[in-house]
Amino acid sequence: MAESGHVANGGTTADIQGDAQFVVVANRLPVDKTVQPDGTVQWKRSPGGLVTALEPLLRTKTGAWVGWSGIADSDDNPDIPGIEIFAVPLSTQEIAEYYEGFSNATLWPLYHDVIVKPEYHREWWNTYVTVNRRFAEATARAAGPGATVWVQDYQLQLVPKMLRMLRPDLKIGFFLHIPFPPVELFMQNPWRTEIVEGLLGADLIGFHLPGGAQNFLYLARRLAGQATSKGTVGVRSRFGVVQVGFRTVRVGAFPISIDSGELDTKARSREIRKRATEIRKELGNPKTIMLGVDRLDYTKGIDVRLKALSELLAEKRVDPEQTVMVQLATPSRERVDSYVKMRAGIEQLVGNINGTYGAVGQPVVQYLHRPVPRDELIAFFVAADVMLVTPMRDGMNLVAKEYVACRSDLGGALVLSEFTGAAAELRNSYLCNPYDLDGVKDAIQAAAEQAPEEGRRRMRALRRQVLTHDVAKWADSFLSTLASATETETNANRGVHLVGDQMDEDE
Ligand code: ADP
Ligand code: F6P
Repeated sequence: MAESGHVANGGTTADIQGDAQFVVVANRLPVDKTVQPDGTVQWKRSPGGLVTALEPLLRTKTGAWVGWSGIADSDDNPDIPGIEIFAVPLSTQEIAEYYEGFSNATLWPLYHDVIVKPEYHREWWNTYVTVNRRFAEATARAAGPGATVWVQDYQLQLVPKMLRMLRPDLKIGFFLHIPFPPVELFMQNPWRTEIVEGLLGADLIGFHLPGGAQNFLYLARRLAGQATSKGTVGVRSRFGVVQVGFRTVRVGAFPISIDSGELDTKARSREIRKRATEIRKELGNPKTIMLGVDRLDYTKGIDVRLKALSELLAEKRVDPEQTVMVQLATPSRERVDSYVKMRAGIEQLVGNINGTYGAVGQPVVQYLHRPVPRDELIAFFVAADVMLVTPMRDGMNLVAKEYVACRSDLGGALVLSEFTGAAAELRNSYLCNPYDLDGVKDAIQAAAEQAPEEGRRRMRALRRQVLTHDVAKWADSFLSTLASATETETNANRGVHLVGDQMDEDE
């Protein structure tokens, strides 16, 4: 650790305790803490795509990670080689109001097409502000002078502005891992202006898709003009740039990816291939194995694929003796109401299908409600003939890319919802609209019955995309844009002060 330092900030100073030149700030640490009944502490990989994407980055780039351990009132810092950890403690009430409440019962559904109704509670918002401030203060202590800080995701949208006030010397990037909603939906949020202003504290704001960036540019212009004693500080946006008083904020699309090379290598290994053969055998060597791999989340359309399968079975378009569907579902946000209801619905659908079409010892749907170890998951990808990725809305969906990376044999077929970010890149999948059940059924049937040559053609094209656009490229692209954005700002934009309501049209 470096000697402590101070950065002056308009009269206040921030205590610098760390010397990290690169800091990731995310709601979760890369590992999740659990305490066994006998008091033993275990740290396991945290759920979700954010950790899948960022963990390989920090293996090649030393730095610090600021985040929450996943349980209440803990500030233990787990030992992770090459990463300095700064745990941010949350109380039980903060978990209920900031994490389960404002993050996952307000923002999550609002940003995912209001699939369930977002709840707006002032206490939740107040706690979101308090916790974002705690993250900003922890980051201000962790980051060395002039460091690059990369703030992640919807749980921490106020951190860029708060951090800039504490540490104006930092380069601050922000990336949103989920969709950024259409303007009409975003405007529901009673705290919409504070959120847009919070994000505008960053030097670079990244989204998965150009549509999200466009939505944000429009909102920044509409919501973020500030009144000061000298008049209004104009906020002006044009293609890829928001001008906020003296500062230039870049806005862009950076579609996230996976460590495709690593998955490709693992999936080719003898052990994984052997395990994939065993899995097929354990499932009774059916003609077709269909696979779903998701956090148990209502955005993922797990119910859609189960309903589609059920109708395909009823219409005898799928043979229950020759087909097994495996659904691997990681438990997620289990105390949030909508998740409790959704789980019950899905388990009922699984029971209905097995009760109607299964035989003793031969269920059609095999459902696991627990995370599967990484190597086992890769073996499932290698074993599956049809991968079912059917979200109602998803920022990217890394599972779709993982499946493709694991198919060096050019086998298998990907059924993919049009409403995932991945669909913009994976055009050679069997695309479907999850709101159109007949369309989903047709896509599943076409994938299951594809001619081998057609399957190889599609998989070859999908693999070209996934293997040439990996997570290292994503991170390089974001971080080099951030580096150049801050250089350009200091050199070129001094003295630019826009007053009044002069707004450009978005290009
Ligand atoms: P999200 O970030 O919304 O959870 P993604 O598809 O982008 O969705 O990322 C999910 C990550 O979690 C992927 O790396 C995937 O392999 C992993 N994952 C999902 N379900 C499981 C499971 N049942 N067991 C193990 N890993 C899982
Ligand atoms: O990528 C979306 C995301 O919400 C991440 O921010 C998060 O870490 C992951 O999915 C898993 O969700 P949670 O942290 O709520 O378990």
